[in-house]
Amino acid sequence: MIDGKKVIFSGMQPSGDLTLGNYLGALKNWVQLSDEYMTFFCVVDEHAITVRQDPATLRKRVRELMALYIAAGLDPEKNCIYVQSHVSCHAELAWILNCFTYVGELQRMTQFKDKSAKHADNINAGLLTYPVLMAADILLYQTDVVPVGIDQKQHLEITRNIAERFNNIYGDVFTIPDIYLGKAGTRIMSLQDPLHKMSKSDENDNATIHLLDGRDAVIRKFKRAITDSEAQIRYREEQPGIRNLIDIYCACTGKTPQETEKEFDGKGYGEFKIAVGEAVADLLDPLQKRYKEILADKSYLEGIMKTNGERAEYYARKTLRKVQKKVGFVEKIR
Ligand code: TYM
Repeated sequence: MIDGKKVIFSGMQPSGDLTLGNYLGALKNWVQLSDEYMTFFCVVDEHAITVRQDPATLRKRVRELMALYIAAGLDPEKNCIYVQSHVSCHAELAWILNCFTYVGELQRMTQFKDKSAKHADNINAGLLTYPVLMAADILLYQTDVVPVGIDQKQHLEITRNIAERFNNIYGDVFTIPDIYLGKAGTRIMSLQDPLHKMSKSDENDNATIHLLDGRDAVIRKFKRAITDSEAQIRYREEQPGIRNLIDIYCACTGKTPQETEKEFDGKGYGEFKIAVGEAVADLLDPLQKRYKEILADKSYLEGIMKTNGERAEYYARKTLRKVQKKVGFVEKIR
């Protein structure tokens, strides 16, 4: 709790162009929840360097992601939107929590196994301890709720385990956070392979809707989306392609899968795919317009990074001091 409000923390990596999955699984929910909570939305650049990044591109993407958060509807006056590396407490707490996390539990994480396989030439220690930094992000702000897509569930579980382990030794230091999953869109799948998650790093451009794709590109990609030959719009496991399109449609329109089945009963896939494409393009249109304006205003963005970085630091430092005292560090004379 901060100022009588429950706390939300979430973040995204500036490691590629954001996808419709990032938006429907996370960002859209952040905007919906932001009024009721004290919120911290972080651009997690420290997480991004667990795989090699080009420095100039990373810097550019951090600014772009800040602009995208705002363009999506997060008011930076009310929401603490900031850059992770501007608040050194994240790395400091992560070190301490590393000493309360077992190598075995980190080696069991799905993302570590996946990323190690994908980047076999660079299985660095950061890739292994990634979830500890993520735990530090969340626990620094005494977070109650973490809105994310379902792929982050395991990371939330380890965060809770680390926090409980620490609290069991030192008393109630950390709030134990809960995951928040939206009603629809918690796992958007690739348009070309509906058994795999839509991802920033997919090499096939037709598989992914990027948040800055224009209307024509969006509709073209949906038209090409892989479906099946059953020719019926039903929300069933056996039809993963159609199921994914229904999920996307529902997340964009607020309709339920049952309502969607009814709406398109007896209609062809071609018509349905265009309707999904239109719904997505309608949602992205206003965001893209605002994004361009915000990104063009460099000093505005820098001002926000500075003020919000300081605000985040204030709250983070409080928790960090408490933790340092608990583990036995001598207080720094100020
Ligand atoms: P990242 O950058 O991979 O993704 C950002 C958010 O988007 C969600 N997401 C999806 N949701 C639905 N369908 C998809 N296909 C899809 N792809 C991505 C993710 O679940 C996430 O919510 N480890 C995190 C970043 C992070 C973080 C944190 C999150 C660092 N510290 C603390 C929350 C709290 C990550 O890599 O997300």
